[in-house]
Amino acid sequence: MKLIILENAQQIAEQVSEIFIEQVNAKKNSVLGFATGASPVPTYELLVKAYEQGKLSLKDITTFNLDEYCGIPASCEQSYRTFMFENLFGKTDVDPEKVNFLNGNAADFAAECREYEGKIAAAGGIDIQLLGVGVNGHIGFNEPSDKITDIPFAVELTDSTKQANSRYFEDGKVPDYALTMGIGDIMRAKKIVLIATGDSKKNAVKAIRDGEISSQCPATFLRLHPDAVVFADKAAAALL
Ligand code: GLP
Repeated sequence: MKLIILENAQQIAEQVSEIFIEQVNAKKNSVLGFATGASPVPTYELLVKAYEQGKLSLKDITTFNLDEYCGIPASCEQSYRTFMFENLFGKTDVDPEKVNFLNGNAADFAAECREYEGKIAAAGGIDIQLLGVGVNGHIGFNEPSDKITDIPFAVELTDSTKQANSRYFEDGKVPDYALTMGIGDIMRAKKIVLIATGDSKKNAVKAIRDGEISSQCPATFLRLHPDAVVFADKAAAALL
């Protein structure tokens, strides 16, 4: 794992968007794993800009999003599907037929998760998986836990995560459950890029570099990946 500390979120976005642009220009039909939250937004803005300037086409990529809330309509403002269309897919030539999300309203979560796993495998695996990190070290919605997860699964969200994500919900009420890729899915990506920005991520970044590798802090597994790059801004790297 490589750790790169830059001055601010914008500098990180410049480098991360360049990684994606190079990937797609080298392999038009790349399989890309995307993340939601505030961390990837500046990167998505730069990918949209590159598309608008004719430097990037995303029309042949296949996408897999990391996670999705359970029990809220896919069309509502807070769903991760809506987020991706508002921030990236709807502003570029991404083919809506080639985007994949876990269905948080599936009747049978276990079947939905197995099917998602099958789709990732059938696509040939993920070329680059983009990640943010939770203040408690979660990646996707792999919360601190006694177990290492492999394939997608349904998870009960922790109070820490609900608190952190409540800013996106008008009534502050975050769903109790979500579906998420497992640690195994993330680790099977050929490359992983994690973005950590801001003071609230400083404990997570310290743990990623120096903490015990453990399912109690899922982001620490990135240290075992042959091609993982962690980008932290000065504030997130304050404890290093
Ligand atoms: C959510 C998402 C994660 C994301 C995290 C951090 O919990 N499930 O994938 O990394 O939030 O979000 P932010 O970037 O807004 O801090």
